Amino acid sequence: MPATREGVRGAVITGWGSALPEKVLTNHDLEKMFDTDHDWIVDRSGIHQRHVGGLTSALSIESGRQALEMSGVDLADIDALVLATTTPDRAVPATASTVQHALGLRCGAFDLNAACSGWVYGLINAHGLIAMGAEKVLLIGTDTLSNITDWTDRGTAILFADGSAASVIEAVDGPGQMLGWDLDSDGSAEKYLYAELGGNLLMEGREVFRRAVRIMVDSATKSMKHAGVSIDDIALVVPHQANIRIISASMDRLGLSMDKAAIVLDRTGNTSSASIPLALNDALDNGRISDGDLVLFVGFGAGMSAASAIVRWTTTAQEHTK
Ligand code: ACO
Repeated sequence: MPATREGVRGAVITGWGSALPEKVLTNHDLEKMFDTDHDWIVDRSGIHQRHVGGLTSALSIESGRQALEMSGVDLADIDALVLATTTPDRAVPATASTVQHALGLRCGAFDLNAACSGWVYGLINAHGLIAMGAEKVLLIGTDTLSNITDWTDRGTAILFADGSAASVIEAVDGPGQMLGWDLDSDGSAEKYLYAELGGNLLMEGREVFRRAVRIMVDSATKSMKHAGVSIDDIALVVPHQANIRIISASMDRLGLSMDKAAIVLDRTGNTSSASIPLALNDALDNGRISDGDLVLFVGFGAGMSAASAIVRWTTTAQEHTK
């Protein structure tokens, strides 16, 4: 359990952006590639289509630029760029360095690999940097899983996809948005979902499914306890977009109806580090989050990692910034 946040300088999200590759791969396209069918995929995963193609750096530059423009920050004021990704362009250097240069930033820049929990890990890290004196952080979650997918394996190829989403996070006077958080990892379960260096993702789908529901509910419960809030206080859950049945089972166990979940996976598939911020941005762009709403982010992924956070949304975040 993390230490209390009392007295810690807070932060708010002041800008966001999303980027998806142009190429759309529908379930009907997949039917031509291996033995599967649209109805099975929709029934078992909730996915109708996904976007594929492009590089992690290129997608990150696009979403990052949108977020910076929306926040209106001076580029010179960004103190750190955190890029959550499991699919960097190269082994070395960090893809964050490539993105930083392209965006015209000069600041600390690093990649963070926590699989599908990556953006929430990054959100908590960004708040930590701000608590230690950073003023503004650009957080990007990007994955190009199509590059590490075996396109002949119907057990995984129906799920994975590419995308990117970015957030500008700025220091404020007072507690800011973050009320509580939880990070976890259980390395004993890494064998159920992994990719060797240069290899494709291998997954035991049923085992991942079984653990995912438990992990999401456990982590969300810890974050709510840390924040001192109850499930009835939550206005919107922004879960990792892996499988609609995992989300539905988790919401059910948390005691929430599905209309309180942000969903984009029908259009995007599982974009790993990008999945939670893509769903957040979609909810924001569609007016699903109002001033004062409590939002629960919860993710799980290879590792098996888990992360969750509770934020109290402020629609006029800019007014709170220094
Ligand atoms: N099309 C048609 N049939 C299929 C397909 C397909 N694409 N894939 C599997 N099947 C068949 C199987 O062969 C099996 O047939 P059998 O009973 O004759 O052997 C049957 O469908 C059922 O297979 P299951 O694997 O039991 O199907 P399940 O209902 O578990 O759904 C799925 C599979 C969608 C992969 C599910 O297990 C799942 O979503 N698991 C979690 C995966 C996940 O969340 N991964 C991401 C983690 S996050 C990260 O870090 C990347």
